[in-house]
Amino acid sequence: MKGLVLSGGKGTRLRPLTYTGAKQLVPVANKPVLFYALEDLVEAGVPEIGIVISPETGEQVKQETGDGSKFGARFTYIMQPQPLGIAHGIKIAQDFLGGEPFILFLGDNFIRGGIVPQVNAFRHQAMDAQIILYEMNDPSSMGVAVLNGDGRVERVVEKPKQFISPYAVIGIYMFGASVFDAVNNIKPSARGELEITDTIQYLVDKGLNVRAHKLTDKWVDTGRIGDMLEANRLVLDVMEPKLDGTLDNSILEGRVVLEEGARVSNSKIRGPAIIGKRTVVENAFVGPYTAIHHGCTIRNCEIEHSIVLENSRLEDLHTRVADSLIGRNVQIKRAEGPTKTIRLMLGDFSQVGI
Ligand code: G1P
Repeated sequence: MKGLVLSGGKGTRLRPLTYTGAKQLVPVANKPVLFYALEDLVEAGVPEIGIVISPETGEQVKQETGDGSKFGARFTYIMQPQPLGIAHGIKIAQDFLGGEPFILFLGDNFIRGGIVPQVNAFRHQAMDAQIILYEMNDPSSMGVAVLNGDGRVERVVEKPKQFISPYAVIGIYMFGASVFDAVNNIKPSARGELEITDTIQYLVDKGLNVRAHKLTDKWVDTGRIGDMLEANRLVLDVMEPKLDGTLDNSILEGRVVLEEGARVSNSKIRGPAIIGKRTVVENAFVGPYTAIHHGCTIRNCEIEHSIVLENSRLEDLHTRVADSLIGRNVQIKRAEGPTKTIRLMLGDFSQVGI
Protein backbone atom coordinates (compact mmCIF):
# COMPACT_ATOMS: atom_id res chain seq x y z
CA MET A 1 0.00 0.00 0.00
CA LYS A 2 1.23 3.50 -0.86
CA GLY A 3 0.51 6.97 0.50
CA LEU A 4 -0.45 10.05 -1.48
CA VAL A 5 -0.31 13.39 0.32
CA LEU A 6 -1.64 16.55 -1.30
CA SER A 7 0.40 19.62 -0.47
CA GLY A 8 -0.51 22.14 -3.16
CA GLY A 9 -3.38 24.62 -3.20
CA LYS A 10 -3.37 28.35 -2.59
CA GLY A 11 -4.38 28.58 1.08
CA THR A 12 -6.46 31.70 0.49
CA ARG A 13 -8.13 31.45 3.90
CA LEU A 14 -4.78 31.80 5.67
CA ARG A 15 -3.61 34.92 3.85
CA PRO A 16 -1.32 36.80 4.31
CA LEU A 17 0.75 33.89 5.72
CA THR A 18 0.21 31.88 2.56
CA TYR A 19 1.55 34.61 0.25
CA THR A 20 5.02 33.56 1.27
CA GLY A 21 4.57 30.00 2.45
CA ALA A 22 2.63 26.79 1.91
CA LYS A 23 -0.38 26.39 4.22
CA GLN A 24 0.80 22.85 4.95
CA LEU A 25 3.99 24.25 6.48
CA VAL A 26 2.25 26.43 9.07
CA PRO A 27 3.34 24.89 12.38
CA VAL A 28 1.20 23.16 14.96
CA ALA A 29 3.15 23.00 18.25
CA ASN A 30 6.25 24.09 16.30
CA LYS A 31 6.00 21.37 13.63
CA PRO A 32 4.51 21.83 10.15
CA VAL A 33 0.98 20.44 10.01
CA LEU A 34 2.04 18.38 6.95
CA PHE A 35 4.56 16.44 9.09
CA TYR A 36 1.77 14.99 11.23
CA ALA A 37 0.19 13.47 8.10
CA LEU A 38 3.52 11.99 6.98
CA GLU A 39 4.17 10.57 10.46
CA ASP A 40 0.65 9.09 10.61
CA LEU A 41 1.29 7.24 7.33
CA VAL A 42 4.66 5.91 8.46
CA GLU A 43 3.14 4.81 11.77
CA ALA A 44 0.46 2.90 9.83
CA GLY A 45 3.17 1.01 7.94
CA VAL A 46 3.01 3.10 4.75
CA PRO A 47 6.48 4.59 4.13
CA GLU A 48 6.28 4.82 0.31
CA ILE A 49 4.67 8.24 -0.14
CA GLY A 50 3.98 10.49 -3.13
CA ILE A 51 3.67 14.20 -2.29
CA VAL A 52 1.71 16.33 -4.75
CA ILE A 53 3.09 19.89 -4.85
CA SER A 54 2.30 23.13 -6.69
CA PRO A 55 4.61 25.40 -8.72
CA GLU A 56 4.10 28.21 -6.14
CA THR A 57 5.11 26.41 -2.95
CA GLY A 58 6.55 23.09 -4.15
CA GLU A 59 10.21 24.01 -3.68
CA GLN A 60 9.58 25.12 -0.12
CA VAL A 61 7.69 21.91 0.69
CA LYS A 62 10.52 19.83 -0.80
CA GLN A 63 13.15 21.70 1.14
CA GLU A 64 11.40 21.34 4.49
CA THR A 65 10.33 17.76 3.96
CA GLY A 66 13.31 16.23 2.13
CA ASP A 67 13.63 12.75 0.67
CA GLY A 68 11.77 11.09 3.52
CA SER A 69 14.78 9.68 5.37
CA LYS A 70 14.15 11.78 8.49
CA PHE A 71 10.67 10.22 8.66
CA GLY A 72 11.85 6.67 7.92
CA ALA A 73 10.05 6.98 4.56
CA ARG A 74 10.67 7.48 0.83
CA PHE A 75 9.08 10.52 -0.80
CA THR A 76 8.40 11.05 -4.50
CA TYR A 77 7.34 14.57 -5.48
CA ILE A 78 4.63 14.96 -8.11
CA MET A 79 4.01 18.40 -9.64
CA GLN A 80 0.41 19.52 -10.11
CA PRO A 81 0.74 22.47 -12.52
CA GLN A 82 -2.70 23.89 -11.63
CA PRO A 83 -5.07 23.41 -8.67
CA LEU A 84 -7.62 21.31 -10.55
CA GLY A 85 -8.95 19.34 -7.60
CA ILE A 86 -8.20 16.51 -5.23
CA ALA A 87 -9.23 13.83 -7.73
CA HIS A 88 -6.92 15.47 -10.27
CA GLY A 89 -4.12 14.89 -7.74
CA ILE A 90 -4.88 11.13 -7.94
CA LYS A 91 -5.03 11.30 -11.73
CA ILE A 92 -1.53 12.73 -12.07
CA ALA A 93 -0.14 10.28 -9.50
CA GLN A 94 -1.24 7.16 -11.39
CA ASP A 95 2.29 6.21 -12.50
CA PHE A 96 3.59 6.57 -8.96
CA LEU A 97 0.69 4.57 -7.48
CA GLY A 98 1.10 1.80 -10.05
CA GLY A 99 -2.39 0.35 -9.54
CA GLU A 100 -1.78 -0.40 -5.83
CA PRO A 101 -4.26 0.38 -3.04
CA PHE A 102 -3.35 3.66 -1.39
CA ILE A 103 -4.17 6.17 1.32
CA LEU A 104 -4.89 9.71 0.20
CA PHE A 105 -4.16 12.29 2.90
CA LEU A 106 -4.83 16.02 2.44
CA GLY A 107 -1.76 17.76 3.84
CA ASP A 108 -3.75 20.39 5.74
CA ASN A 109 -5.89 17.83 7.58
CA PHE A 110 -4.92 17.05 11.15
CA ILE A 111 -6.17 14.00 13.01
CA ARG A 112 -5.29 13.28 16.61
CA GLY A 113 -4.59 9.65 17.39
CA GLY A 114 -3.28 8.64 13.95
CA ILE A 115 -4.79 6.32 11.36
CA VAL A 116 -3.63 2.83 12.39
CA PRO A 117 -7.12 1.35 13.12
CA GLN A 118 -8.59 2.68 9.87
CA VAL A 119 -5.67 1.41 7.78
CA ASN A 120 -5.85 -2.02 9.45
CA ALA A 121 -9.58 -2.25 8.73
CA PHE A 122 -8.93 -1.34 5.09
CA ARG A 123 -6.11 -3.89 4.83
CA HIS A 124 -8.07 -6.77 6.29
CA GLN A 125 -11.57 -6.29 4.97
CA ALA A 126 -12.52 -6.54 1.33
CA MET A 127 -13.54 -3.01 0.40
CA ASP A 128 -13.08 -0.86 -2.68
CA ALA A 129 -12.81 2.36 -0.69
CA GLN A 130 -12.99 3.58 2.88
CA ILE A 131 -13.80 7.10 3.98
CA ILE A 132 -13.59 8.56 7.48
CA LEU A 133 -16.51 10.51 8.91
CA TYR A 134 -16.62 13.19 11.58
CA GLU A 135 -19.90 14.14 13.18
CA MET A 136 -20.58 17.88 13.15
CA ASN A 137 -23.54 20.14 13.86
CA ASP A 138 -22.97 21.94 10.60
CA PRO A 139 -20.86 20.08 8.04
CA SER A 140 -22.01 22.30 5.14
CA SER A 141 -18.49 23.50 4.29
CA MET A 142 -17.26 19.91 3.75
CA GLY A 143 -18.05 16.84 1.73
CA VAL A 144 -20.96 15.13 3.50
CA ALA A 145 -21.90 11.41 3.48
CA VAL A 146 -25.18 9.58 3.93
CA LEU A 147 -24.95 5.95 5.06
CA ASN A 148 -27.38 3.11 4.66
CA GLY A 149 -28.32 0.83 7.57
CA ASP A 150 -25.30 -1.51 7.38
CA GLY A 151 -22.54 1.14 7.27
CA ARG A 152 -22.17 1.32 3.50
CA VAL A 153 -21.93 4.72 1.91
CA GLU A 154 -25.03 5.61 -0.07
CA ARG A 155 -24.45 9.22 -1.10
CA VAL A 156 -21.67 11.79 -0.91
CA VAL A 157 -22.31 15.47 -1.63
CA GLU A 158 -19.77 18.32 -1.74
CA LYS A 159 -20.76 21.24 0.52
CA PRO A 160 -24.52 20.51 0.49
CA LYS A 161 -26.77 23.58 0.77
CA GLN A 162 -29.43 21.62 2.66
CA PHE A 163 -28.73 19.44 5.68
CA ILE A 164 -28.52 15.81 4.57
CA SER A 165 -26.46 14.23 7.35
CA PRO A 166 -24.18 15.24 10.26
CA TYR A 167 -21.20 13.33 8.82
CA ALA A 168 -18.40 15.36 7.24
CA VAL A 169 -16.04 13.35 5.03
CA ILE A 170 -12.57 14.14 6.32
CA GLY A 171 -9.52 14.49 4.09
CA ILE A 172 -8.14 10.97 4.58
CA TYR A 173 -9.35 8.34 2.12
CA MET A 174 -8.38 4.76 1.23
CA PHE A 175 -8.83 3.44 -2.28
CA GLY A 176 -8.33 0.26 -4.27
CA ALA A 177 -7.50 0.23 -7.99
CA SER A 178 -11.11 0.92 -9.05
CA VAL A 179 -10.59 4.61 -8.20
CA PHE A 180 -8.53 5.16 -11.36
CA ASP A 181 -11.52 4.42 -13.55
CA ALA A 182 -13.47 6.97 -11.46
CA VAL A 183 -10.97 9.84 -11.69
CA ASN A 184 -10.60 9.29 -15.42
CA ASN A 185 -14.34 9.51 -15.99
CA ILE A 186 -15.73 12.21 -13.71
CA LYS A 187 -16.16 15.77 -15.03
CA PRO A 188 -15.07 19.03 -13.37
CA SER A 189 -17.56 20.57 -10.91
CA ALA A 190 -18.96 24.11 -10.96
CA ARG A 191 -15.78 25.32 -9.21
CA GLY A 192 -13.72 23.79 -12.04
CA GLU A 193 -12.26 20.96 -9.97
CA LEU A 194 -12.30 17.18 -10.18
CA GLU A 195 -14.00 16.56 -6.84
CA ILE A 196 -13.09 13.74 -4.49
CA THR A 197 -16.76 13.49 -3.52
CA ASP A 198 -17.77 12.88 -7.17
CA THR A 199 -15.06 10.21 -7.29
CA ILE A 200 -16.54 8.42 -4.28
CA GLN A 201 -20.09 8.78 -5.63
CA TYR A 202 -18.91 7.22 -8.92
CA LEU A 203 -17.69 4.13 -7.02
CA VAL A 204 -20.98 3.94 -5.08
CA ASP A 205 -22.99 4.21 -8.31
CA LYS A 206 -20.99 1.31 -9.76
CA GLY A 207 -22.22 -0.81 -6.84
CA LEU A 208 -18.74 -1.10 -5.30
CA ASN A 209 -18.16 -1.63 -1.60
CA VAL A 210 -17.48 1.84 -0.14
CA ARG A 211 -17.34 1.76 3.66
CA ALA A 212 -17.20 4.45 6.29
CA HIS A 213 -15.31 4.64 9.57
CA LYS A 214 -16.71 7.01 12.17
CA LEU A 215 -13.95 8.89 13.93
CA THR A 216 -14.07 9.16 17.71
CA ASP A 217 -10.92 11.28 18.29
CA LYS A 218 -10.46 14.83 17.04
CA TRP A 219 -10.04 16.05 13.45
CA VAL A 220 -9.27 19.55 12.21
CA ASP A 221 -9.13 20.93 8.66
CA THR A 222 -6.54 23.65 9.32
CA GLY A 223 -7.79 26.08 6.67
CA ARG A 224 -8.44 29.05 8.97
CA ILE A 225 -6.79 30.69 11.96
CA GLY A 226 -9.35 29.28 14.43
CA ASP A 227 -8.65 25.77 13.12
CA MET A 228 -4.87 26.24 13.41
CA LEU A 229 -5.32 27.33 17.03
CA GLU A 230 -7.54 24.31 17.68
CA ALA A 231 -4.99 21.85 16.23
CA ASN A 232 -2.35 23.59 18.32
CA ARG A 233 -4.46 23.09 21.48
CA LEU A 234 -5.00 19.41 20.68
CA VAL A 235 -1.27 18.72 20.36
CA LEU A 236 -0.17 20.87 23.29
CA ASP A 237 -2.71 19.14 25.53
CA VAL A 238 -0.98 15.76 25.16
CA MET A 239 2.63 16.90 24.78
CA GLU A 240 5.27 15.56 27.20
CA PRO A 241 6.96 18.39 29.16
CA LYS A 242 10.67 18.80 28.35
CA LEU A 243 13.32 21.26 29.46
CA ASP A 244 16.12 21.53 26.93
CA GLY A 245 16.47 25.30 27.37
CA THR A 246 17.58 27.46 30.28
CA LEU A 247 15.53 29.04 33.01
CA ASP A 248 16.43 32.00 35.18
CA ASN A 249 14.22 33.50 37.91
CA SER A 250 11.13 32.17 36.15
CA ILE A 251 8.10 29.99 36.81
CA LEU A 252 6.82 27.18 34.61
CA GLU A 253 3.33 25.83 35.29
CA GLY A 254 1.76 22.75 33.71
CA ARG A 255 2.97 21.16 30.47
CA VAL A 256 5.80 23.24 29.08
CA VAL A 257 8.41 22.36 26.48
CA LEU A 258 11.54 24.50 26.21
CA GLU A 259 13.37 23.46 23.07
CA GLU A 260 17.16 23.49 22.77
CA GLY A 261 18.74 26.86 23.36
CA ALA A 262 15.49 28.55 24.48
CA ARG A 263 16.16 31.09 27.26
CA VAL A 264 13.48 32.15 29.74
CA SER A 265 14.21 34.82 32.31
CA ASN A 266 12.10 36.83 34.77
CA SER A 267 9.01 35.30 33.20
CA LYS A 268 6.07 33.02 33.82
CA ILE A 269 5.04 30.35 31.35
CA ARG A 270 1.70 28.75 32.00
CA GLY A 271 1.35 25.57 29.97
CA PRO A 272 0.46 23.91 27.85
CA ALA A 273 3.01 25.85 25.85
CA ILE A 274 6.09 25.31 23.72
CA ILE A 275 9.04 27.69 23.32
CA GLY A 276 11.19 27.04 20.24
CA LYS A 277 14.92 26.71 19.72
CA ARG A 278 16.99 29.81 20.54
CA THR A 279 13.88 31.81 21.45
CA VAL A 280 14.28 34.39 24.20
CA VAL A 281 11.44 35.09 26.67
CA GLU A 282 12.24 37.96 29.01
CA ASN A 283 10.05 39.82 31.55
CA ALA A 284 7.08 38.19 29.92
CA PHE A 285 4.01 36.05 30.49
CA VAL A 286 3.34 33.23 28.04
CA GLY A 287 -0.11 31.82 28.67
CA PRO A 288 -1.84 28.50 27.95
CA TYR A 289 -2.04 27.07 24.43
CA THR A 290 0.78 29.09 23.00
CA ALA A 291 3.47 27.92 20.57
CA ILE A 292 6.40 30.25 20.01
CA HIS A 293 8.65 29.04 17.20
CA HIS A 294 12.43 29.19 16.76
CA GLY A 295 14.53 32.34 17.00
CA CYS A 296 11.79 34.59 18.44
CA THR A 297 12.00 37.27 21.12
CA ILE A 298 9.14 37.85 23.57
CA ARG A 299 10.16 40.73 25.81
CA ASN A 300 8.13 42.89 28.20
CA CYS A 301 4.82 41.56 27.03
CA GLU A 302 2.08 38.98 27.54
CA ILE A 303 0.78 36.46 25.06
CA GLU A 304 -1.64 33.53 25.27
CA HIS A 305 -3.59 31.14 23.02
CA SER A 306 -1.48 32.07 20.01
CA ILE A 307 0.98 30.74 17.45
CA VAL A 308 4.10 32.72 16.57
CA LEU A 309 6.26 31.63 13.61
CA GLU A 310 10.05 31.80 13.21
CA ASN A 311 12.18 34.82 14.05
CA SER A 312 9.43 37.17 15.16
CA ARG A 313 9.75 39.76 17.93
CA LEU A 314 7.11 41.03 20.32
CA GLU A 315 8.44 43.76 22.57
CA ASP A 316 7.19 46.35 25.07
CA LEU A 317 3.49 45.89 24.42
CA HIS A 318 0.97 47.19 26.93
CA THR A 319 -1.81 44.81 26.07
CA ARG A 320 -2.02 41.05 26.16
CA VAL A 321 -1.83 39.38 22.75
CA ALA A 322 -4.36 36.55 22.45
CA ASP A 323 -6.02 34.30 19.83
CA SER A 324 -3.38 35.33 17.29
CA LEU A 325 -1.41 33.76 14.47
CA ILE A 326 1.74 35.75 13.81
CA GLY A 327 3.90 35.02 10.77
CA ARG A 328 7.66 34.80 10.21
CA ASN A 329 10.02 37.75 10.84
CA VAL A 330 7.20 39.91 12.20
CA GLN A 331 8.04 42.75 14.58
CA ILE A 332 5.47 44.12 16.99
CA LYS A 333 6.66 46.80 19.38
CA ARG A 334 5.54 49.96 21.05
CA ALA A 335 5.23 52.91 18.68
CA GLU A 336 7.22 56.00 19.51
CA GLY A 337 5.39 59.34 19.45
CA PRO A 338 2.16 60.50 21.05
CA THR A 339 0.35 57.93 23.18
CA LYS A 340 -2.66 56.25 21.54
CA THR A 341 -0.78 56.21 18.26
CA ILE A 342 -0.31 52.90 16.53
CA ARG A 343 2.07 52.47 13.64
CA LEU A 344 1.46 49.60 11.26
CA MET A 345 3.07 48.08 8.24
CA LEU A 346 0.88 45.13 7.32
CA GLY A 347 0.83 42.88 4.27
CA ASP A 348 -2.25 42.48 2.08
CA PHE A 349 -5.10 40.61 3.81
CA SER A 350 -3.60 41.18 7.29
CA GLN A 351 -6.08 41.20 10.14
CA VAL A 352 -5.61 43.32 13.26
CA GLY A 353 -7.88 43.49 16.30
CA ILE A 354 -7.36 46.53 18.51
C1 G1P B 1 -12.03 19.19 0.55
C2 G1P B 1 -13.01 18.17 -0.03
C3 G1P B 1 -14.15 17.91 0.96
C4 G1P B 1 -13.57 17.45 2.30
C5 G1P B 1 -12.54 18.47 2.81
C6 G1P B 1 -11.83 17.93 4.05
O1 G1P B 1 -12.68 20.42 0.68
O2 G1P B 1 -13.50 18.65 -1.27
O3 G1P B 1 -15.01 16.93 0.44
O4 G1P B 1 -14.62 17.31 3.23
O5 G1P B 1 -11.55 18.74 1.81
O6 G1P B 1 -10.87 18.83 4.53
P1 G1P B 1 -11.98 21.83 0.22
O7 G1P B 1 -10.80 22.03 1.14
O8 G1P B 1 -11.56 21.66 -1.20
O9 G1P B 1 -13.04 22.87 0.40
